[in-house]
Amino acid sequence: MNRNDFLMLNQDIIFFDNAATTFKPVSVVNAITDYYNKYCCNAFRGDYKIGLIVDDNINNTRNLVKDYINANSTKEIIFTSGTTEGINIVAAGYFRKILKEHDEIILSKGDHASNIMPWQRLASELNLVIKYVDLDDSNYVTLDNIKRVVTPNTKVISLAYISNVIGDLRPIKEITNFAHQNGIYVVCDASQSVGHRKTDVQDLDVDFLVFSGHKMYGPTGIGVLYGKKDLLELTDPINLGGGMNETFTDFDYQLKELPTRFEAGTLNIAGIIGLGEAIKYINSIGIDKISEYEYKLREYLVNKLIKLDYIDIINLESDSGIVTFNVDGIFAQDVAIYLDKYNICVRAGNHCTKLLKDVINVRNTIRISLAFYNTTEEIDTLVDLLSDKDKIIREML
Ligand code: ALA
Repeated sequence: MNRNDFLMLNQDIIFFDNAATTFKPVSVVNAITDYYNKYCCNAFRGDYKIGLIVDDNINNTRNLVKDYINANSTKEIIFTSGTTEGINIVAAGYFRKILKEHDEIILSKGDHASNIMPWQRLASELNLVIKYVDLDDSNYVTLDNIKRVVTPNTKVISLAYISNVIGDLRPIKEITNFAHQNGIYVVCDASQSVGHRKTDVQDLDVDFLVFSGHKMYGPTGIGVLYGKKDLLELTDPINLGGGMNETFTDFDYQLKELPTRFEAGTLNIAGIIGLGEAIKYINSIGIDKISEYEYKLREYLVNKLIKLDYIDIINLESDSGIVTFNVDGIFAQDVAIYLDKYNICVRAGNHCTKLLKDVINVRNTIRISLAFYNTTEEIDTLVDLLSDKDKIIREML
């Protein structure tokens, strides 16, 4: 689907590491180049024509993001450097102010370091308790298991919408509904979902949601923090500086309104422009069409891999384009290096999800993560290469 839009695909390469980052369509790359070549200047500072073009582009992207995730207002859309910064702002800027000793935070061992470590630091600073929800037999997060771990002290549940190794789609809407009935906030890491399935923050009713541009066909270094307006109003920005202050005197300062107060310093203008273009690009295809196609591709892959009895698929049934497995008796990274000899890019290791090994009893895995530009022919090539275990052993380093 739309392969001609990606110049990276004009070479002999099969890219199955889209959960790490996706390729960028020409329209995104051109929009970034146009900014640098045709109207390069700072934002919201220049009283000249090219400055106004930059300002318009930033405002347009904020509107595109708002509509893409169905936020109520552009005031709820903060540009960040990515998911990691977003969660750090939420933990340090909001929850540090409102949590008290012995309050509990629920996390999952299937989640990425960026949705664990900011909470660990906060817990150690405020003497909070972190609890990990049990994963079910498929290593999924379920509402029932969340209910089991909630206590009157639970104040926050922070989970990925789709996890980056198991690839399970968490029942965030149901979790939020239950959480809010019990006075618990929900933070959602949408980095693995936002480019692959519809995100509707009002329907999910999450309190905060974060994602990165580079996993949704946009550039690296740009991300979004969504927060409900009343919560963002109470959140402290991490960075203070130019652009975000209304005024400051010798010993005091006053911050601007949302969202500007969170965006100190010069914005990642090229990143914002690229993100806007990436959203336009996804919209031009249709996110539901992307989800449907990627899911079919996943089924195609799993149905082929399952026939190889020395391949152990960790996440047989998850609802995403992530397929994680091991080749029996062969170190995951050796398989990745073998596949790379044939220009197939997969990720091997723990995928920054270092607690998952406690649950699945496997430290390293091979991960295929699909995007809509992948094809069944590419999957055939991959599976052919995996179909001869002796060849893998012979050719691996
Ligand atoms: N978080 C990215 C991944 O899962 C880097 O690969």
